[in-house]
Amino acid sequence: MDDDAKRSAARELAAAALARGDATGWFEELYATTPPEAIPWAELVPDPRLVEWADEHGLDGSGRQALTVGSGFGDDAEHLAGLGFAVVAFDIAPTAIRHAQLRFPSSRVRYVLADVLATPPQWYRAFDFVLEAYTLQVLPPELRPAAARGIAETVAPGGTVLVLCDGRDEHEEPGAMPWPLTAAEVVALFEPWLEPGDPELLADDGRQPPTRRLRVVLRRPRDHHGQTG
Ligand SMILES: C[S@@+](CC[C@H](N)C(=O)[O-])C[C@H]1O[C@@H](n2cnc3c(N)ncnc32)[C@H](O)[C@@H]1O
Repeated sequence: MDDDAKRSAARELAAAALARGDATGWFEELYATTPPEAIPWAELVPDPRLVEWADEHGLDGSGRQALTVGSGFGDDAEHLAGLGFAVVAFDIAPTAIRHAQLRFPSSRVRYVLADVLATPPQWYRAFDFVLEAYTLQVLPPELRPAAARGIAETVAPGGTVLVLCDGRDEHEEPGAMPWPLTAAEVVALFEPWLEPGDPELLADDGRQPPTRRLRVVLRRPRDHHGQTG
């Protein structure tokens, strides 16, 4: 099955769920009815744009906490654990969480079921590094501000969010789900709470149809007492 066929199957489930007013119900439906290799986003390796950024910035998780949003099969969470972070990885789909736990049975990552639209209060400003990879783009536009707020609230003072998503230029149409975002859209979603760095629109990565990726780093300023979380 090529990338386009996988995406079409996911789009059908998403459209049916949206039509019944349930924007997030289709994720579990997809995971529960589809073999891992036919899940459109499941590469089963850590995302190269995370790996490259972590290498370039010497990302060191020793003594620090990380959170991965919509963690899917867990490869990014495991990568962050390998960098020394104590990682919490969450997803709204129980089957995704179970798959991750089965794939990495001796993992130090804590995989939990949670909704980015209603994050647990104990996560408030608790994480030094938060990875959001490709969740915002599968949520309809009207849910993204609440999701971005949920993500931003988990970041400790002095902490960082790395956002990865499919990207497009301002003049391009978003097309069909997964809806690529512009750099300005990502920045605007987080700007009430976090300071953005310079967004990078990365070249097509060989997917069919061709897909560019956006990488945006955002930071929560340290508070007046110099707290780093
Ligand atoms: C496009 S997939 C990306 C998965 C993973 N981050 C990756 O890069 O392979 C989006 C993930 O977000 C999860 N998700 C969707 N809505 C969510 C929500 N409201 N809260 C938490 N997870 C959600 C889905 O179940 C799915 O695993």
